[in-house]
Amino acid sequence: MAPCLVLLILLSACAQPTTDIPPGYRNIDLDKSGEAHLIGYWLSAYLDPPGDPFEAGVVFESDGSFFLAARDSMQYKAPDLMPLLEHETIDWAVFSAFITETWHDAVGHPRSIGEWVEIEGDWRDAEGWMRIPVKGTMSPHERVVHVRESSVRAAIAKRAQSGELIYPLGTLFVAEHVEGDVVMETTIMWKRQQDAWDYVSYDVDGQRTDRIFKEPEPLHSPIQCLGCHVGNRGFEPERSFPRQVAAGPNGERYIGVDEASRDPVVTSALNEHMRRSDTILGLYATVYLSRVRTRVLSGSGSSSDSLLLREQDIPVDSQAS
Ligand code: HEC
Repeated sequence: MAPCLVLLILLSACAQPTTDIPPGYRNIDLDKSGEAHLIGYWLSAYLDPPGDPFEAGVVFESDGSFFLAARDSMQYKAPDLMPLLEHETIDWAVFSAFITETWHDAVGHPRSIGEWVEIEGDWRDAEGWMRIPVKGTMSPHERVVHVRESSVRAAIAKRAQSGELIYPLGTLFVAEHVEGDVVMETTIMWKRQQDAWDYVSYDVDGQRTDRIFKEPEPLHSPIQCLGCHVGNRGFEPERSFPRQVAAGPNGERYIGVDEASRDPVVTSALNEHMRRSDTILGLYATVYLSRVRTRVLSGSGSSSDSLLLREQDIPVDSQAS
């Protein structure tokens, strides 16, 4: 080999950021905290079956940097990710545009609210759903959050074993943002995997959308949905519950439940808003168990109501309140 060619090869090897990055790999540089988690969370859906992209050899880490595998291994491991290889570096702008464009279809989320209703039943009318109106941080509209009572009961049962409210697989939260009788938009959290929720949003016509109304800037769905749910910020009106809270920048703030659903003993026992178990921010277990405790204290509770409270170490005598 000619000496200058050897020199050229040596020089080009030196120019690589790290020595063990094979050709064709692409640097993923999102410039965000928790980058490995974000990459794992968003890219798992593109594998068949869905799974950890690091374990599957689709993404790997070297010296704190992340890389997407080259075309030859990608085309059979995760072909739907191949458009990302067209970019020299996969930065946040490239990554978030790609996720917004393709992620819902990779997961298989319904394109319309009508399809959800076919699968799950009509949460507005069906028996067995909790419906909690709230006006708070996420939207200037009033939201009505719907969740099956059986899902909340299952999370409460989990707390008796593990100390954490963990919702079962398949749990669906539907938050309808309402003005009068009109559902302006709908946001959904759906527990598809054991330790992660999917986020999906729908517009006034019930069609999937990538924008949710918020001022001064809209929320970008689903890419900005994780922020508040996985962080550790406290939010009103949840933080002040069971007390009412003063109006905020978008007018009044409230959780629209009656006195029977606002028990201070239950609220502080669960401390649901600050623990934000399972990344859920509303006070569903608190409201459910408050209702149970109100029944027990008023003498109309069943023996299983009392048992449920005892299992949670929540006092059943009125002296505690
Ligand atoms: C600004 C912070 C913030 C962002 C960003 C955010 N949420 Fe929320 N979300 C909340 C808070 C706070 C609650 C508790 C109920 C309330 O106050 O509306 C909540 C509740 C929910 C609920 C009901 C279940 C629960 O955790 O109580 C759903 C469903 C939901 N959000 C979906 C979404 C979707 C979809 C997106 C992205 C479009 C999103 N959220 C982005 C703050 C946020």
